[in-house]
Amino acid sequence: MPGAKITALGCYAPPGVLTNHDLEKMVETSNEWILERTGILERHIAAPEIATSDLAVEAAREALAQRGIAGTDLDAVIVCTVTPDMLFPSTACLVQDRLGAKGAWGFDLVAACSGFIYGLTTGAHLIMSGTHKKVLVIGADTMSRIIDYTDRGTCVLFGDGAGAMLLEPAEDGEGFIGFLNEIDGSGGDYLKMPAGGSRMPATCESVAGRMHYVKQDGAQVFKYAVRKMYESCRALLDLHGLSPKDVSLLIPHQANRRIITAAAERLGLSCEQIIINIDRYGNTTAATIPLATRDAIDQGRLKKGDLVLFAAVGAGFTVGTNLWRWEY
Ligand SMILES: CC(C)(COP(=O)(O)OP(=O)(O)OC[C@H]1O[C@@H](n2cnc3c(N)ncnc32)[C@H](O)[C@@H]1OP(=O)(O)O)[C@@H](O)C(=O)NCCC(=O)NCCS
Repeated sequence: MPGAKITALGCYAPPGVLTNHDLEKMVETSNEWILERTGILERHIAAPEIATSDLAVEAAREALAQRGIAGTDLDAVIVCTVTPDMLFPSTACLVQDRLGAKGAWGFDLVAACSGFIYGLTTGAHLIMSGTHKKVLVIGADTMSRIIDYTDRGTCVLFGDGAGAMLLEPAEDGEGFIGFLNEIDGSGGDYLKMPAGGSRMPATCESVAGRMHYVKQDGAQVFKYAVRKMYESCRALLDLHGLSPKDVSLLIPHQANRRIITAAAERLGLSCEQIIINIDRYGNTTAATIPLATRDAIDQGRLKKGDLVLFAAVGAGFTVGTNLWRWEY
């Protein structure tokens, strides 16, 4: 059975920026409150004519160019998102077409903030099955489309962005090491978008009731995220006979700086072992992990041979952790 390794990374954040000071003019909040409670300074927001597939294609093209391959070389395209261009066709179909990935198959993967980790897990297993040589995993979300900019409890948190990683077969001991993913639907009510699906289709009433926006019980999500981020990282490391000191870098989902530091502290990780870039992007849902990976590389904090732990908790609830040996 072949292994799977990450061979390229592409990222894209739309040029528009919404700062905390901009938000001060929109809702009852302050730069100080947002920074202290979340760690966020600004987030990127897509222009009105831009949709998730546009962000995804930009990130995907960069990854393909980095590896010097064409869309036709891809066997599968997985788009992790909770903000598809439309319910169907899938955003994966739209992206596949624009990349010219003729002959590839693919699908959208809905796991909210754990989406990219579930995509990596799925992509790695497609490669390891021996049936796929090149799988492109994309995390892309245009959260600004489903955020209520009159709700200060959610609108300060989210931003738009995309990232893509190319997965290819690996030699023994390279790349993918393992995963621990878990869903817990009992937490579904704490973070959701109630309308727009088959339970509550779009009606004048659903729109008037602002039900097509993210609704969240922030305190409940916060508590669960801190606990599960720690427990799942710990359990995955235990499973592989590793300890936190073996980890070169924890690349966590960026939902709240306090969630990351609390989990890292419980794991006993030093500041050098974690990457935080929530200040510049906010929570871009499925895109946070590749965007943070990009920053780690740019800062010289991620090198070939490093042991990387990816971890996320998201709506659902969904929990995901992956261990990889970084290979380029
Ligand atoms: C949303 C979150 C930042 C709120 O921070 P918190 O410290 O838990 O704050 P609380 O929810 O306890 O609210 C404290 C007060 O601040 C207020 N508040 C909420 N948002 C505010 C804002 N943007 N500006 C100013 N005050 C705000 C609340 O209304 C509340 O006021 P009250 O005590 O008068 O009712 C935090 O709960 C969080 O990050 N939760 C996880 C969210 C998340 O990560 N979601 C995505 C998961 S992938």
